[in-house]
Amino acid sequence: MQPIDQPTPTVSPAASPGAVADLIAMLLPARRIVAFTGAGISTESGIPDYRGPGGVWERKAPPTLGDFLDNPETQQAYWERRRFTYPALLAAEPNVGHLALAALERAGRLIGVITQNIDGLHQRAGNDPDRVVELHGTAHRVGCIACSAVWSGAEIQARQDAGESFPRCVLCGGALRTATVLFGESLPPDALRRAASLAQACDAMLIVGSSLVVQPAASLPVLARERGAKLAIVNRMTTPLDALADVRVAGDAGPTLAALAAALGT
Ligand code: APR
Repeated sequence: MQPIDQPTPTVSPAASPGAVADLIAMLLPARRIVAFTGAGISTESGIPDYRGPGGVWERKAPPTLGDFLDNPETQQAYWERRRFTYPALLAAEPNVGHLALAALERAGRLIGVITQNIDGLHQRAGNDPDRVVELHGTAHRVGCIACSAVWSGAEIQARQDAGESFPRCVLCGGALRTATVLFGESLPPDALRRAASLAQACDAMLIVGSSLVVQPAASLPVLARERGAKLAIVNRMTTPLDALADVRVAGDAGPTLAALAAALGT
């Protein structure tokens, strides 16, 4: 996963009714919609994004793969921090935006979700887990770097809450890490392959809540476009792919997606 140069963000006001109407008009004839989501779809569930105002990066940039693997101090700081951040992720509920995408899938209009999110909220909202591609992994699984044993995030949280602030593998003593992709790390090949297939199969890609500045994820809308799909972007801020989009809605994901799902008869 690699960051690319970021545009100067401009904060947009609430979505204009005209833009939402354009979004609906664009997606009404679509039969194979793929949603491409980022952290912005989950802010209305109380999970901060990375690059928006108040985002994670204003406080602490996530570690790179090399830093994490080479430095026990980085691992310890990571786990001590996660002990206080993971409970919020575990407790978060899908919001109306997630629910709208699940409704679009039930209605047979959405063939898949490609997400950069690690929160699992699309599956919790009702999207078929087999149709959700987690490009950057999941925070809800933890593995041992040495022996590959796996636990749920909740199990490790319970150990931390019981006093182990820096948990290690109970089988071999190895370092633990979450099943998330770090900067400097390749994306899981199977996830990338499935995401590319969806991008090539869709007739419209609905991009929601992503700054579109992290590669290779941000190349998927470009691939969809090259294969003839329409593109819509729903985002509070501008993105580097706005010029490629057929429709851009500058505003909040939840109400926009709820209006879309209602208009598409779900
Ligand atoms: N509705 C619409 N847009 C929103 C909302 C909302 N409710 N909340 C935030 N946004 C927008 C922000 O303005 C921002 O442009 O969502 C975008 C989120 O961008 P990022 O924080 O960069 O998140 P994302 O694109 O998912 O980041 C990609 O970067 O650090 C990594 O691995 C991490 O998967 C993540 C990747």
